[in-house]
Amino acid sequence: MNTIIDQTHQGHTWPLAHAVPDPDSAHNVVLNINGQEIHLKIEPWVSLLDALREYVGLTGTKKGCDHGQCGACTVLIDGKRINSCLTLAVMKQGCQVTTIEGLSKGDELHPVQEAFVEHDAYQCGYCTPGQICSAVGLINEGKATTRDEISELMSGNICRCGAYPHILDAIEQVKGAGSHE
Ligand code: FES
Ligand code: FES
Repeated sequence: MNTIIDQTHQGHTWPLAHAVPDPDSAHNVVLNINGQEIHLKIEPWVSLLDALREYVGLTGTKKGCDHGQCGACTVLIDGKRINSCLTLAVMKQGCQVTTIEGLSKGDELHPVQEAFVEHDAYQCGYCTPGQICSAVGLINEGKATTRDEISELMSGNICRCGAYPHILDAIEQVKGAGSHE
């Protein structure tokens, strides 16, 4: 198990990574991340993206633009994809937050993760966690039926390496195989 989450299970309330919250401004916030209850002391203006990376130490979610324009920070909230850079962590108390770290079950990859590996759908990999979370959200939405529609509905996720054709191949394969949580 992730030692950070392990520490939280032991009852620590802490900025578990390297963020240092202002003690005069920090509030107690409880987030459910990847099925684990995480207790944090955090300022109300901290984005969910920074909370995940700097306070919880889950660095799979990436910071690209920090302005809602690249999709690198995409996570799932109650199964729906959002840009975590545009969301305040305190607003997500009581929600189920799923990050790239929470998609696999132990060593068993999520079908979308498997398909990305199978189709070589990444180069540098920086956009990949956001692409995969977004693809899982897209599949949950059950909307896109054609390759063009998948492309359109994934257009909020930018890949600087241009891995789009392989990303689409991977998503098409999983959509063809049925929907997955
Ligand atoms: S880092 Fe959030 S959209 Fe770019
Ligand atoms: S694989 Fe490099 S940014 Fe997408």
